[in-house]
This record gives sequence, structure tokens and C-alpha cells, in this order.
Amino acid sequence: MIDTQAINQAQSTLVEGQPVWLFGYGSLIYKVDFDYIERKPARIDNWVRRFWQGSHDHRGTPKAPGRVATLIEQPGSSCMGMAYKVTPEVFGHLDHREKNGYLRFETPLHFADGTEVEGLVYIATEENVAFLGPASEADIAQHIAQSVGPSGPNDEYLLELAAALRKLNVEDEHVFAIERHLLALS
Ligand code: BEZ
Repeated sequence: MIDTQAINQAQSTLVEGQPVWLFGYGSLIYKVDFDYIERKPARIDNWVRRFWQGSHDHRGTPKAPGRVATLIEQPGSSCMGMAYKVTPEVFGHLDHREKNGYLRFETPLHFADGTEVEGLVYIATEENVAFLGPASEADIAQHIAQSVGPSGPNDEYLLELAAALRKLNVEDEHVFAIERHLLALS
């Protein structure tokens, strides 16, 4: 199995003492258990948020993985999230927290004032062993409703993310459709 934590730690993109912008589109939006210098809403282009990644270590188990967000390339689309300006030391913690299939990639980040910076984003690509891939939003909701892992129930992740996106005035039809299906199940 690929050790994404080791691959991320071996990357040479971080320069000691030099802060970097990290784009968050999933739990990084609402679970901020790291220090940051500044944060502001941001957008990355040509990617969409999808609940297509399996979670073996947070919202599910290796035998019964939950479903969490990753980014899927889709030219012409964009994904809104939250960007954090952080010091390189923060990645020791985050590379461990997001070790289940997520690799760090460089990407341009766009801010509401029209400015752009080069930043980093964690993406779980389809080659990782925990990748689950597409399913209908109704099926994803059913899957999420049944899943639980060491970080808690999978529905908490989805509902907290949906609430955080709403607070940022972000329209995400995929997330909100799963939320509707999930609420209809209870
Ligand atoms: C994010 O919020 O950007 C994120 C969270 C967990 C893993 C990867 C990315």
C-alpha cells in the first residue's frame, strides 16, 4: 500500500520559515485543529468536491469505510472552500491527520478580491486504495448514514460540512443533495 504520509513528508514544496496557503474543501473548513496566520474564503478552478473517497481511519473502518470528500478534476468547474496561511510545521500534523490516501498538490488559489496565489491542497486521487468512486447521492447518503469511525459518525462530517458551506454562502449541489437524502432517512 502506498504510504501517502511518507510521500507528502518527502516533498520539497515547503521552504523552512516560509508560510504557505493551504486550500481546505472538506473537514479542514470546519475542523481547524492547527494554528494559522490568516484565513479567507478561496476558490480553485477545474475541480469539484465529491464524496468519493473511503475513510478507513476517521469516519469508517478498513472493513466498513465511510465516505468523505475529495476533489475530482472537472474542467470549467470550480470549488469554493477556505484557505489558511500556515507555517510549514503545520504539515507534520496534517499529513498524519489526512494520511488515508491524500497527497499534497500545488494549485493556484483565487480570492474574492481577484488576487491569486500558488498554494497547496490535499487530494485523494482514484489510484489510492481507499478510493470508492461515484455513486448516486441517495446511495451516498445511505452509505454515510450507516458509517462510523474513530472520529465519530460519518453523518456528522457531512452535516458539519454542509452547515459550514452554507455559512460561507457556498452553493454545493452535491453536498446539499446528500444532506437532503440523509435528513430524509432519519
Ligand atoms: C480538506 O478539507 O481540504 C481536506 C480534508 C481532509 C483531507 C483532505 C482535504
